[in-house]
Amino acid sequence: MKRVLITGATSGIGKSLVDIYIDNGYEVVATGRDLTKLATLKKQYPSIHTLSFGITQLQQVLDAAEEVNSIDQLILNAGNCEYMETVNPFDSALFERVIRTNLLSVGYCLEAFLPKIKRNGQIGIVSSSVTYLAFTQSQAYGASKAGLNYLARSLSVDLANQDIGVSLIQPGFVETPLTDKNTFDMPGKVTSEFAAKAIFKGMQARKHSIKFPTLFINILRLLSTLPFALWRKIAIYLVNK
Ligand SMILES: NC(=O)c1ccc[n+]([C@@H]2O[C@H](COP(=O)([O-])OP(=O)(O)OC[C@H]3O[C@@H](n4cnc5c(N)ncnc54)[C@H](OP(=O)(O)O)[C@@H]3O)[C@@H](O)[C@H]2O)c1
Repeated sequence: MKRVLITGATSGIGKSLVDIYIDNGYEVVATGRDLTKLATLKKQYPSIHTLSFGITQLQQVLDAAEEVNSIDQLILNAGNCEYMETVNPFDSALFERVIRTNLLSVGYCLEAFLPKIKRNGQIGIVSSSVTYLAFTQSQAYGASKAGLNYLARSLSVDLANQDIGVSLIQPGFVETPLTDKNTFDMPGKVTSEFAAKAIFKGMQARKHSIKFPTLFINILRLLSTLPFALWRKIAIYLVNK
């Protein structure tokens, strides 16, 4: 039986990933902080192994890893989004919080869980499609996810000799408690089940890049080819609309 460890498994995309991996016969190690939600998962799937730890606390992550045997797949999905209300004054506390939760935590999880991954294994790193373009108020979130893009690509090079693959995962908007807080339009929004299916499929195929939904991503990719000066004008227009 193959085993997957999923961070941020108590909610949204992570919870839907648990469902699809269980449906496909995997043994699942599900992690999060919310004990009630972890208990609910355990009730739904008695075979599941749950671990509670904060991803921003290195010692907690290392302690949790002591309880984990070898794994075939590791999905580093836990994360948060906070938009910057203003950039002047610049909220460096918010910036630090987001970078810590979305980027530094992935370093902690890699230190703890990478030694557990079998040869021929696969790591999925959940970044975001936000990194295609510079968006308003996204300085912290975008920077954290852009950091993950580089990390994933660079890891993929150095883990090749150990036959461990890395999938950089860039979702568009997905309906989850995280996006439920947004008050703006979210074009192309998909369900967390759709997201989990795309991620599961891509992880099994050991794809370097998993991005969805296709139309939304293609529009972003096209816009990202514009000279920055032109995109900047469009972004400023959208802010002032
Ligand atoms: N939704 C979207 O549109 C979208 C788009 C692109 C990328 N993403 C990325 O997809 C990932 C999942 O997002 P989601 O929309 O599914 O969000 P979500 O429903 O809010 O779920 C976030 C998960 O991360 C866990 N988490 C957050 N901070 C944590 C911490 N400090 N320690 C341990 N666990 C922590 C939460 O667990 P506990 O509450 O149990 O701590 C929860 O299970 C994130 O990395 C997000 O940036 C989402």
